[in-house]
Amino acid sequence: MSPTQSKKRIAVIAGDGIGQEVIPQALKVIRATGADLEITEFDWGADRYLRDGMTVPPDGFAMLARDFDAILAGAFGDPRVKTNIHAKEILLGMRFRMDLYANVRPVRLLDASLCPLKGIEPKDVDFVVIRENTEGVYTDAGGVFKPGTPDEIAIQEDINTRKGVERIIRYAFDYCEQHKKLDGSPRRRVLMCDKSNAMTHAGGLWQRVFKEVSAEFPQIETQHMYVDALCMQMVRDPRSFDVIVTNNMFGDIITDLAAGLQGGLGMAASGNIHPGQTSMFEPVHGSAPPIAGKNLANPFGAILTSAMMLAHLGLTKEAENIEAAVLQAVRQKKTTQDIGGSLGTREAADNIVSLVK
Ligand code: NAD
Ligand code: IPM
Ligand code: MN
Repeated sequence: MSPTQSKKRIAVIAGDGIGQEVIPQALKVIRATGADLEITEFDWGADRYLRDGMTVPPDGFAMLARDFDAILAGAFGDPRVKTNIHAKEILLGMRFRMDLYANVRPVRLLDASLCPLKGIEPKDVDFVVIRENTEGVYTDAGGVFKPGTPDEIAIQEDINTRKGVERIIRYAFDYCEQHKKLDGSPRRRVLMCDKSNAMTHAGGLWQRVFKEVSAEFPQIETQHMYVDALCMQMVRDPRSFDVIVTNNMFGDIITDLAAGLQGGLGMAASGNIHPGQTSMFEPVHGSAPPIAGKNLANPFGAILTSAMMLAHLGLTKEAENIEAAVLQAVRQKKTTQDIGGSLGTREAADNIVSLVK
């Protein structure tokens, strides 16, 4: 990827369920910004898998890394594919095989009406979760011994490498140093979240590395919380959070909880990033089978995700334009029902398109 090259090549994989609805809306919006983009769509997902057994073509990941500047993905998961094998191979495939080690999940409250907590204002919720994205229990290492018998044993390993832990913690400190809050004030603190009181081997490594890396950033405050206590704090008073770094599974769980503070999963954006390499952007939500195909899904998570992608590609003005439009729509309640409006998926996105234009 060359940051100076003007036309940005975007691979799009809408995937399953509401991914098929929200991603076309996000594409309308990024096209409306006038950004110089070349968009190529791929049909990887449950339908394709059920048709011909393909999840990812043999050179799929190499092709994405070579031929594209970024990837925009929807969601993967379909009740017809009980094993979820296609989601594992496509979504976790991109994260693992393309080594997209930093899953960056900003948590921002756009309007007080979206937060289920009383007395919480937009200025109170502007933090980011930096989730390790290539290790932990998600490696799915382990196995089953004597399956189906009364003696069955299932082993699920939690893999934590020195290199993997160090690079995600350093990413969190770099992020803290380089990113401001929405109101322009600097970020000040990195909080490491683990369960080192019970999981002592992995926790010990995270604790030691956090201490070592933090010494390189003396101007940044450090804090530690066990994941259970952090969950309690997040629903009682999220105001103190700034940058949170944690492992793959805790990051998954706390970002759904955090999405609840922002108005639900329909509002949450994310990037799967390896600095300097082709990175992948996707809303935090899944394929939401019960509401799929009904024009009910909130497209703002996908739209904010596409803004995050444009910002990553250096298209800052275009990204800010989209974010401002979403903010205005939320304030005017020109939204889908999940966040209090009465518009459908397409109509909510059409309004963003006209605001962006
Ligand atoms: P989900 O995120 O699909 O849905 C959880 C809840 O949030 C549901 O009530 C749903 O209706 C609601 N919701 C989600 N997105 C919404 C939106 N944009 N607008 C309005 N409401 C929205 O999670 P789930 O139900 O646990 O999983 C469904 C499928 O999606 C499963 O197969 C799961 O594995 C998969 N999944 C995929 C991803 C991904 O591809 N990134 C993420 C999470 C779940
Ligand atoms: C997410 C999703 C995925 C995850 C699933 C679909 C494997 O929940 O992106 O948060 O657990 O990472
Ligand atoms: Mn999740």
